[in-house]
Amino acid sequence: MRAHEAGWAHAAVSVRGPAWLREPEDANALVPRLWPATARKRAAGVLEVGGVAVTDLVREHGSPAYVLDEEDFRGRARAFRDGFDAPPDVHWDVFYAGKAFLCTTVARWIAEEGLSLDVCTGGELAVAERAGFPMTRIGFHGNNKSVGELERAVELGVGRIIVDSFHELERLSRITRELGRTARVMVRVTAGVEAHTHEYIATAHEDQKFGLSISSGDALDAVRQAHGDPGLELLGLHSHIGSQIFDSAGFEVAARRVLALHQQVSDELGVELPELDLGGGFGIAYTTQDDPSDAAKLASEMSRIVRDECASRGLAVPRLSIEPGRAVAGPAMCTVYEVGTVKAVELDGGAVRTYVSVDGGMSDNIRTALYDAEYSCTLANRVSDAPPMLSRVVGKHCEAGDIVVMDEFLPGDLAPGDLLAVPGTGAYCWSMASNYNHVLRPPVVAVRDGVARLLIRRETVDDLLATDTGAYPDSGTGAAG
Ligand code: LLP
Repeated sequence: MRAHEAGWAHAAVSVRGPAWLREPEDANALVPRLWPATARKRAAGVLEVGGVAVTDLVREHGSPAYVLDEEDFRGRARAFRDGFDAPPDVHWDVFYAGKAFLCTTVARWIAEEGLSLDVCTGGELAVAERAGFPMTRIGFHGNNKSVGELERAVELGVGRIIVDSFHELERLSRITRELGRTARVMVRVTAGVEAHTHEYIATAHEDQKFGLSISSGDALDAVRQAHGDPGLELLGLHSHIGSQIFDSAGFEVAARRVLALHQQVSDELGVELPELDLGGGFGIAYTTQDDPSDAAKLASEMSRIVRDECASRGLAVPRLSIEPGRAVAGPAMCTVYEVGTVKAVELDGGAVRTYVSVDGGMSDNIRTALYDAEYSCTLANRVSDAPPMLSRVVGKHCEAGDIVVMDEFLPGDLAPGDLLAVPGTGAYCWSMASNYNHVLRPPVVAVRDGVARLLIRRETVDDLLATDTGAYPDSGTGAAG
């Protein structure tokens, strides 16, 4: 739901909360499917993940902190790999979309679990390189890759570059000629599908920046151009219809349209392209209203769709790939915050909303403000008998839209110093984090079998000021003094 035109505070959610939100019988209990696999509440109400109490994590690493369940992350990666490789007549490669969450350790986990990696900038490519990720297992995305980024990708020999425009084709053609190298490419196409998700994360309808249109003929032109270029090895077509998608209907329509083009290419150019990539976008449960499919079900549905469509067109089934990001990283992480203030605010008609302020906010999770994303949360440091109160969890930023959890029932005795944990923050939270208001980005701590490992440390004030040159009109570019 988009915010009300008069602002988020006027949205149609009453103080009883949105229709889907039920008052829990026990506000201390976890809803298991929203949490990392190893998350549980100890008898005293303390949340533990990977066998480590979040109270101990906060004591050691401070708050807020992102807590990553290694076993859960690896398990989801494996579930995609095994699920999608299962049907014997269809071969799938699974590219983890690093934009969801990437650091060198996670890149190594992905390599160890046998997945490939999707990167979409030179920065993400640099992380993969630093991690020693096999370059042949990398897919390089982006609608405006720079010449420098493309040169680096060609030099490193990445497995595939997903081309998004005619300008990029020209650049790649020149770069491969100059470097005396070839590049393996896919052509990203827009299939004209409306994915039922937020407008900013729907990407296969025509009126947006990604891909080359099938219906306008641009996609076929790009394929002809790539096919005719001696420096480029054309692997196939690529389609990504959007993100946080729950059913396979959109994938089905997209696959049909992309395979129609695949056939056209075969008829016209006499080549059956060896590969086809259907992108990512598999949804996860952020709250009790979400009911996503699991990897095995998606795998069998998508395999059937492609197999049937190829059979009816008399095509060989190409080697397929998908690019899940959110569905691997999202549920594996939670964010732990400390409560700083609790404030009851009287609304029109005498109703009251409780605002719970935590020590992070839109700088560590912009998704609520940007996409009206909904989250849940739980009291993480103790048990409470107090009746649940409908709460809004907000951050510490100087902005009224700085909301972390729009609506949740939390124990009525919540107080400063309590810890709150928000599940489902593994995808696009750290990766979209900012220093808004000069807030320091939190650490990412991986937990497993009772051991915590710091993957990304908390930023310091020195980090914050590292790029501030201190230049003053009379003092050149160096700091005064
Ligand atoms: N492949 C391509 C070409 C993509 O553009 C994306 C996501 C993915 C795969 C992975 O999609 P996933 O499986 O994670 O849904 N910041 C937004 C999501 C932006 C997605 C961008 N592309 C969010 O926080 O919801």
